[in-house]
Amino acid sequence: MNRRYRKTIIAGNWKMNKTPTEAKALIEEMKPALSRCKWCEMVLCVPFTDIQNAVKAARGSKIAIGAQNMHFEKSGAFTGEVSADMLKEMGVKFVIIGHSERRQYFGETDISCNKKVKVALAAGLRPILCCGETLEEREQDVTMEVVRKQIKIALRDVAAEDIKKVVIAYEPIWAIGTGKTATAEQAGEVCSAIRDCLRELYGARAARAITVQYGGSMNAKNAAELLAQPDVDGGLIGGASLKAADFAAIVDAANQ
Ligand code: PGA
Repeated sequence: MNRRYRKTIIAGNWKMNKTPTEAKALIEEMKPALSRCKWCEMVLCVPFTDIQNAVKAARGSKIAIGAQNMHFEKSGAFTGEVSADMLKEMGVKFVIIGHSERRQYFGETDISCNKKVKVALAAGLRPILCCGETLEEREQDVTMEVVRKQIKIALRDVAAEDIKKVVIAYEPIWAIGTGKTATAEQAGEVCSAIRDCLRELYGARAARAITVQYGGSMNAKNAAELLAQPDVDGGLIGGASLKAADFAAIVDAANQ
């Protein structure tokens, strides 16, 4: 973290978990502990069907509600999809774009991510743009190339004045949901390479102000060490964001 230049953001990604009633209960359970939070921003990215209850339950707290995906068209014949304007009107502030599960199971590409990032920004939503390599890519020593390509394509034509609203989440695919966390050094190294790439695209000043998160089996135990890396400005947390005490412990680590 480097609080002097940028915000630390701890975001939960609930994935396909929790009914609207369960969502309300979990947020109510989280609120007291999260009210201790001083320095970081907190986001919960919930299923579409939970948004209404989540926004209501989070009211009066410092928790912002995010979505996990959106379509890049404004409206039309896209059965099962949800637009940026629909999310915005529900009170959503953030939206995850290009999570590796979306890329793997639902055919998302860097090009579709690029369209979504631009549309999210135009609607006033903050994109949490995900990138990260597979185990094979890491073993072949092409992690930096893969991540740079993902970022460069997904951010093409994103205006300089908008870039500070974008959050980047580095999520090595081999670490997601596997219990295998990247070491703090591995996470720090790639997050720093991401900032180098952002510097090439937007200049030093802008790059310095962008929040770059780590995600992949981040938990109450390893959060402090990961967040101690200067270029790791927060986390995108799956499993551990479904338990109030674990999520609160990660937020506490971000407030040290
Ligand atoms: P995990 O998921 O924390 O359960 O590994 C992270 C993510 O997919 O965003």
